[in-house]
Amino acid sequence: MSDAPDLDALEETARAALAAAGDAAAVEDWRVGWLGRKGRLTGVLRGVRELPAERRPAVGAGANRLKLALQEAHGERLAALREARADEGAAIDVTLPGRQPPQGTLHPITITRRMMERTFRDMGFDVVEGPDVELETYNFDRLRIPADHPAREMWDTIWIADEDAGPRKLLRTHTSPMQIRYLERREPPIRVIVPGTCYRYEAVDATHEWMLSQFEGLVIDEGLSFAHLKGTLESFVQRLFGSEIETRFRCDYFPFVEPGAELAIRWQGDWLEVLGCGMVHREIIEQAGLDSRRYTGFAFGIGVERVAMLRYGVTDIRAFYANDLRFLERFRGSDGSA
Ligand code: PHE
Repeated sequence: MSDAPDLDALEETARAALAAAGDAAAVEDWRVGWLGRKGRLTGVLRGVRELPAERRPAVGAGANRLKLALQEAHGERLAALREARADEGAAIDVTLPGRQPPQGTLHPITITRRMMERTFRDMGFDVVEGPDVELETYNFDRLRIPADHPAREMWDTIWIADEDAGPRKLLRTHTSPMQIRYLERREPPIRVIVPGTCYRYEAVDATHEWMLSQFEGLVIDEGLSFAHLKGTLESFVQRLFGSEIETRFRCDYFPFVEPGAELAIRWQGDWLEVLGCGMVHREIIEQAGLDSRRYTGFAFGIGVERVAMLRYGVTDIRAFYANDLRFLERFRGSDGSA
C-alpha cells in the first residue's frame, strides 16, 4: 500500500455512520468498527509505516488528528443520545401533586343488597340482622321443621362440629330463624326485614351457590290478610323492576307459613321465581305468646343473587363469588342508587 489514504473522504464516511447510529449499542458498534483494534482508522494508522519515508510524517499526523477528532465525535454522540433520552423523561412533570386512581368497587351483591334495603325502608320496614351461626332450634324446630320432618331436606345443611354436647349449631340455611328471634323480643305491629348471608350444603351450578344472600320479611298486625301480602310484594317488585312488570303467585309449601306461595315475575318470556312467601303459621304466632285470632301476618324470603342476576343480566350465579376482577370491575361506578 503505497497510496496515501484519502483522509477527508474517510472522515466524511465515519461521521455519517456515527450520525446514523441511533442508540448506544449502534454507537458502540461504530466505535469498534472505526477505532477498535481492527477498526478502519487503526488499519490506516498501521499502513502509515508502509508509505515512502517522506510522506509518513504528514499522513501520520493527519491520521492521528482524525483519530482524535473521531474519538471526540464519539463522545459527543453518546452525550447527545443520553440527553435525548432525558428529554423524553422530562415530559413527566414530577412536581405535580399525586392523583390517587379510584381503588376497588362495591361488590354487585352489596350494591343489590343496599338497593333492596333502601326500597324496603322506603316502604316503612325496619332493618335488623341476625347471627350466621344459628341454633338448630331456630333454623328448624321452632319453624315447625322437627328433626324427623321430611321438609328438612328442603335445606341441605352445613352443621357446626362441636365437641361439647350442647344444643346443635349450624350455618343458617335461610334468614327465617329471625322471624322467631324477632317475635321473642317485639310486640306487634311488626314490619321488619332481615338481610343476611345463608349457607347450604349444595352442589354448585349455574343457578345454585353454597353461599347466598336473602332478605327475610316479617309483618304482623291486627287484621292482615293475603291481600296485604300480595299488595306489599307486588309493590316491592314493581319498585325494583319497574311498574310494567307482570307477577304471578302460585301455591308453594313452607312449614312455617299457611298458605304458602311463590312469587314469579315474567322475564324475557319466562316465569321466574323470585321469592317464597306466605301467611305466618298460626302456631308460630301462638308460640310467640300472641292471640292468633287477633294477630295475623305474612312473611317472605327473597334471594339477592337472583335479583342481581336479573338486574345485571348475569346468567351464572358462580360469577359473583369467583373473584374474577374482570367481572367485578364491570360494576365500577354503580352505587346502587337506582
Ligand atoms: N326461608 C324460605 C327459603 O329459604 C323462604 C321463605 C321465607 C318462605 C318466608 C316463606 C316465608 O326457602
